Formats: sequence, structure tokens, C-alpha cells
Amino acid sequence: MTLLDLQITERRMVAQGIVSLELRDAQGRPLPAFTAGSHIDVHITPGLTRQYSLCNAPTDTDRYVLGVLLEPNSRGGSAAIHERFAQGDTITVGQPRNLFALAPARRSLLFAGGIGITPMLSMAEALWQTREDFELVYCARSARHAAFLDQLAVAPYAKRTRLHLDDGPPEQRLQMDRLAQEEPASTHLYVCGPKGFIEHVCQAARAHGWPEAHIHVEHFSAAPAASGQSFAVQIASTGQRIEIGAQESITHALERHGVCIPVSCEQGICGTCVTRVVSGDIEHLDSYFSAAERARGDQLTPCCSRGRGTLVLDL
Ligand code: FES
Repeated sequence: MTLLDLQITERRMVAQGIVSLELRDAQGRPLPAFTAGSHIDVHITPGLTRQYSLCNAPTDTDRYVLGVLLEPNSRGGSAAIHERFAQGDTITVGQPRNLFALAPARRSLLFAGGIGITPMLSMAEALWQTREDFELVYCARSARHAAFLDQLAVAPYAKRTRLHLDDGPPEQRLQMDRLAQEEPASTHLYVCGPKGFIEHVCQAARAHGWPEAHIHVEHFSAAPAASGQSFAVQIASTGQRIEIGAQESITHALERHGVCIPVSCEQGICGTCVTRVVSGDIEHLDSYFSAAERARGDQLTPCCSRGRGTLVLDL
């Protein structure tokens, strides 16, 4: 995929620990088009790439806007962006990709938890522009932690935005069960944010009979920690057996032996590294596969997922 060198034309703090970057072509040329819910790969240092949602309107042809949360346990990604990316710098990004697209629907509910607001801003813009029925439900720890509030306050869809703050009065907290009960199951639900928030929203929706096809999820947080047990991988085409240490990923161990699997997020989110599994017991640690795909046991994300005993990979 063609990479783009773009200039950071605006850098501003939009909440505690969240920086917004506006990227443009230095010569003012138009950028590749994107649809609501898209993300781009940001190349942070050689070999380190992270995905960030585009949070501006898809009708913007000359800029991409990102929101980057400084993760407390950042493995170099968000911390490097916060510390080193300055206004005027040129950075390398990939072209937009969409794994969280809007589906045709009579009505959409957009649930954002914390930094999960970023794709929802783009979706809200798109739904507003096409005159579709929607509501944006934004939950954050406090107003200080809620990014883009200034933008939301003056957005044309401001009246369709509900803000729920953890430190606010009890009566304004999100009553997910009540909301799920009141909405018709034909409404499409989009949710993005921390794992616990996603689970809370999805569980309530499922409990009230919403079909899986109407529940759309974008994961932001890294995959859960690995089991820490060592295991082995066998390359099906050559029979080569490689030990995977307790603290290393399959992709890193294979790379040491000259077997390279393309990676991008290295967090089990994007699916770039998906590899077929011929046999073996997989420990899925990604956020990419559905429960049904995991149950089939025939593929894994080797950037973060692991195995027990020996995994035979279709390589
Ligand atoms: Fe993104 Fe493995 S590199 S899922």
C-alpha cells in the first residue's frame, strides 16, 4: 500500500492526556478519500506502527484528524507521539482503511467510551450530512478527560449528543439497560472504547435481543496479557520447529529464524498478520476474531496470540 508523507499542521491537547493531530499534504494536494470509521497506520519509529481512527468528516478532502490518548502502559506508541510529534513535522502514514464501516440502517446509536469518541465523530458527521437518524452517546471519566467537547458543543448535531460523566450526578449516568430496552432492535449500535465499556454496552444490547449483525465494535485497547508459558511452532511446509519463549511473540521468534510475517498493529486489532493454523491448541489474545472464528481454531494473530504445546502453522 502506498505510504503518505504528511505534515502535522495542527497539534493541540483536546483533553487530559489526549492530543489531536491534523495532517495535510505539505503542497496542499488532496488526500486519499476515506469513509466514516476508517483508521490510518501511523509510522512512529522504524518497525513501530499504530492505528488511529480518523475523526474528521469524510467529506474533508485535504486533511486527516487524529486523537491520540497517552496510554499509561504505552509500549512506545502513544508516548512517542505525545513526546516527539510536533507541529510542522512530517510523518509517514498509511492510506485509510475501514474495519468499522457504517451499515445501512433506519437509526444508529453511536456509543463512545473515552478515546473511543474518535471514530464516532467521523460517523456522526457522515450521518448528519446524509440526514440519517442517529444519536451519539459519549461516556467519559470527567469533562477534563472528554476530548473534543468544544467541537461537539458547536456541532450541527449537538442536540443529538448525550454526555455521561463518571464524576457527574447519578441521574446523568448511562442507563444502558433502559436505553437498550427502549430502542427497537432494528437500530444499529456502534461501540468503541475501553474493553469494559464495550462489554457493558454489548451485553445490555444482547440481553435485550439485539441481533449480532446490528452490533458493531471497534477495539482500541491492546490485547490482554499473554499466558507467559513457552510453547513451540512448527512450519508446515518445512517441518522446522521453533521454540517461542514466555516473553516473546510468535512473529518476533519466527523473524529471528528468517520467517517474516507482515505486521502492523502488533496488538491483535488490525488482522494484518492473520495466519492459518493446521493443528494445535490456540490461545487467542486478539480483539480481531469473532467468537465463531475463534471456535473454528484454524487461524490466529501471531503478533500477540499464543499456543499450548505445539502449533503447526500453514507457512
Ligand atoms: Fe495487527 Fe497482528 S499485526 S493483528
